[in-house]
Amino acid sequence: MDRTKHTISVSTSCRHKRTDCKPGLELIARLRAALDAAGEVFASDFEISGVACMAGCNRPCTVAYHATAKATYLFGDIAPDQDISDLVAFADQYRARNDGWCSLTTPPEKRHSAPLAKVPAALIYAKDECVQ
Ligand code: FES
Repeated sequence: MDRTKHTISVSTSCRHKRTDCKPGLELIARLRAALDAAGEVFASDFEISGVACMAGCNRPCTVAYHATAKATYLFGDIAPDQDISDLVAFADQYRARNDGWCSLTTPPEKRHSAPLAKVPAALIYAKDECVQ
């Protein structure tokens, strides 16, 4: 079993459009509860961190998935009260892939919006394999 530690970063500075409300902390709390409820694998393999900004400010809330030697994904337009199950489903797929390169790059209910970014695993791993 892959025991890689995964991180889900949530922007705590995103604001609902045209309001002062910053739903990032609510999103973190709901996502943490959902991962804990999904079982020990999720609870132990995923950390959730709040970050100030991930440059997706016009697509609030933004959520990123990353781990060592895995692709990084950044999603936008995430609503704390609607999208938690989709975020957990994506976490399940992301965790299962050794390189994190998921064919499903948009949470199921968010198929109208592609991820804001999909970045391959760090180049250092490719470089290490080329060094003789
Ligand atoms: S404030 Fe959330 S991505 Fe910039």
